[in-house]
Parts: sequence; structure tokens; C-alpha cells
Amino acid sequence: MCSGFDSENTNMKTARDLYQSKLVSATDAMNHIGDGDFIIVPSGVGEPPQLLTALSEQRKRFRDVKVAQILALRKYGYFDAETAQHVRHVAFFYGPASRPGGQAGWIDFLPNYFGEIPRLIEQGNIPADVVFSMASPMDEHGFFALSLGTDYTMAAVTKARTVILEVNPNVPFTHGQCHVHISQVSALIESCEPILEVGLPVIGSVQAAIGKYVAEMINDGATLQIGYGAIPDAVVIQLAEKHDLGIHTEMIGDGILSLVACGAVTNQKKNFHTGKMLATFALGSQKLYRFMHQNPQLEMHPVNYTNDPAIAGLNDNLMTINASLQIDLLGQCGSESLGNIPYSGTGGQSDFVRAANRSKGGKSFIVLPSTAKNDTISRIVPTLASGTHITTSKNDVNYVVTEFGVAQLRGKSYRQRAEELIAIAHPNFRAELRKALNRM
Ligand code: COA
Repeated sequence: MCSGFDSENTNMKTARDLYQSKLVSATDAMNHIGDGDFIIVPSGVGEPPQLLTALSEQRKRFRDVKVAQILALRKYGYFDAETAQHVRHVAFFYGPASRPGGQAGWIDFLPNYFGEIPRLIEQGNIPADVVFSMASPMDEHGFFALSLGTDYTMAAVTKARTVILEVNPNVPFTHGQCHVHISQVSALIESCEPILEVGLPVIGSVQAAIGKYVAEMINDGATLQIGYGAIPDAVVIQLAEKHDLGIHTEMIGDGILSLVACGAVTNQKKNFHTGKMLATFALGSQKLYRFMHQNPQLEMHPVNYTNDPAIAGLNDNLMTINASLQIDLLGQCGSESLGNIPYSGTGGQSDFVRAANRSKGGKSFIVLPSTAKNDTISRIVPTLASGTHITTSKNDVNYVVTEFGVAQLRGKSYRQRAEELIAIAHPNFRAELRKALNRM
């Protein structure tokens, strides 16, 4: 009988000793923090709840500590205007927890392309004194996976003075470039609560109609990036009948999981990373997190890899689907603010629009309902309101889809673009838009 590999080796013993020597309580982990520290936290469900709770509880002993994150989901105690001089949130993208404070002005915002945050950290434009992250249990070689939020956190780990992990057995151990060695870690805490679940948004008839238009333009064998919001998810649902789709995306969620389950995603026609799905953060159900665990079909990579237009654009037939709040007749997308009131952030939208433009056979889709607030406001407007933050440039935008059809803008003049966009506006607003166009 062959014995195979001995699972216990010297490295493992050393790693385990190191692990034990670094294990502390969440309260004691805060002794690694000093006044003025800039703490980097991964996106969404990669945020470590016990560490952020301990920081919140002790926040009054610190001065000028910043916690920077994309898409904050839970409102910890430190989200508090009264104590912001002690610990303040800095958003890379407003999520449900950070949007109210951002709109009120006591949470800071740091503009970025998601794909460039690692470079900003590496070059010191964004400080990274400390990393707080969720992590999988350590493997036999002494590595943890930062699988839920690989994003910019990997870059921060290489820069930070202090790396503190919250190790939780519910965090999947994934493949890809998402591993941190015990020797890189300053302190560890352990937790075992279930990972936060984020359900799929409700999809109404407008979202479904938009999804249908987009799905009709996606061929078998295409590679997909699916953005955040109800409409990208509506598109996913309509792709169940396709064959040999591939995934090169930013966020992996339950929509993509359903396409794998029904056989529509095989990744076999990808010309780049054939057979593998790529993502940089996860947001979904326990089913998704279980699916990610040790799954050779999936690789989690830093966001400067997944979102770099020059890298993502190496995928032939790359289809990118991202939502916007409004668009003007030039094709400028105001996806992240309403006038000067911030709503979300640039995220990966612009990264993936440019990636699709570079991809052979690629198409970028900006999707939005034609109206807001019960058909009282047109989202297609002559000019964006003063102060609107522009997410995707008129020079990059290509397909724009509402429930009334598809506008194709690249290579079109200002007048042609305006005509295309008016044709997919809500019928109640078309005459008004035309009048505005004639004045312009
Ligand atoms: N005027 C007034 N209100 C408007 C409006 C307008 N022109 N456009 C939207 N709104 C309101 C909606 O009515 C809605 O309000 P409600 O919640 O009270 O119903 C709210 O703004 C959000 O609009 P909605 O279209 O439902 O947004 P969404 O939930 O689908 O999210 C974003 C869209 C925020 C994700 C998207 O705009 C965004 O941030 N894009 C940039 C980032 C990105 O694409 N990343 C992709 C990679 S993950």
C-alpha cells in the first residue's frame, strides 16, 4: 500500500507555532494600532466584523485613524459623526453603510478607478499602515486565502507595517493570487460566524426587458463581466440558454453561480485563462462561498489584474455589463452621483468599458431604466446636472440599453449619438429631448 505524501512536515510545524504565537483576542489586536494610522479593509464581505467591532469599541482612545474600504456593507460603531475625529471612514465607493455619512459630509471619499487602487497603494498615494481582513484557515504550507476581498488588499499586505487577519472557517480557500503567508501576518484573531449573505436584487419588468436586449447581443462562447445592481443581474438570468460562456469579472455573485449550475458557463472557449473563471471579490449566499472553496474552476486575483483594461481586454468577445444612474446626449455616464450628491463610486465600470473596447469582438453595455421616480424623471438628459460626477467618458461608452432598446454610440457624431439615445428614451420625454437637442 502506498503511503502518499506525509501531511505533517517541518514547515507545517513552524507555521503552526507561528500561528499560535500571533493569536490574540480582538481587543488585544487593537494594541497594534497607533494614532494617525490608515487601515485598509477589503471590499464587502471581506471586511472582518470582530476586528471592526473591537476598533469601534475602543475608538475614543485613538486620534485621526482612518478606515478605507470599497463598498462598506455593515454599519459598525465607528460610523459615527460624533467620533469621526477619532476614527473616520474613507470610502473608495459608497455602500449602504457609508452612503449616509458621505452625503452628510463626515465620511471622506477618495476618487479612483477600482483597478488602480493597488497602484495608488504601492506608490504611496494611498497610505496603508495597517490591513484588517477576513481570511480562510491556514493551509498546510502556512498560507491563508483572502478570497472574499482579494482586490487591493493584497497590495496593502505588501506595504503595511501591520497585517491583522480574522480567521474564519467559513471563508473559502480559493485558487489564484490571493494568498498571504503566516510570516507576513502581525496578529490573528479567530471567529466563526457565518459570512454575511447578500441577496440578489428584485428584478422587475423594466430590468427584465433590458436584460433581454443585452442577452440577444451576447453570443455563445463570449466572456462576461457582470457589474453591480439589479440590471446586470437581470441580464445574467436571461443567459441560461447560452453555451460555453466564460467569466472574467470583478464581482462573483449568485447570478454567475446559477449560470455555472445550469451549464451555460464552461470557460472552455476563453482564449485567456481557458477553463478558469476570474474575479476579485465575492458577494452572495453561503452557497456561493461553499462553491468557491478549493474549486479549481475559479481563481481570485488582485483587482489590478482582473480590471486592468489591457489585461481584461485580452479576452476575445468580452461582454461587460454595468449600470448607470443617468446619461447625457453626448453619452457621458453619471453613474455614481445625482448632481453633486454622491451615491456610489466609479468601481470597475470605466475599467471594463475600456477593456471591452480593446477586446477583439468585445462589447460594453451601459444599462439603465429610461426613467426614475415612477416615470417622472428621464434618465436620458440633454446635459448632466451641474456637479454630476462623470463615471464613463463619452469617448469610451459604446452600447447603452434601456427597456426601449439599444443605442450604439462608438464611432457616432454628437448628433447621431443624440438621435440614438432619444430613440431609447421613455416616449413621454422624447419630444422634450429633441427640442433640447435642436437648441444645443
Ligand atoms: N434622478 C433621480 N433619482 C434617480 C435617478 C435620477 N436620474 N437615477 C436613479 N435614481 C434613484 C433611483 O430611483 C433609486 O432610488 P430608490 O432607491 O429610492 O428607488 C436610486 O437612485 C438608485 O438607482 P438604481 O438605478 O436603482 O441603482 P442600482 O441600485 O441599480 O445601482 C449603481 C446602480 C449605483 C450600482 C450604479 O449606478 C453604479 O454605481 N455604477 C458605477 C459602478 C459600477 O458600475 N461598477 C461595476 C462593477 S461592480
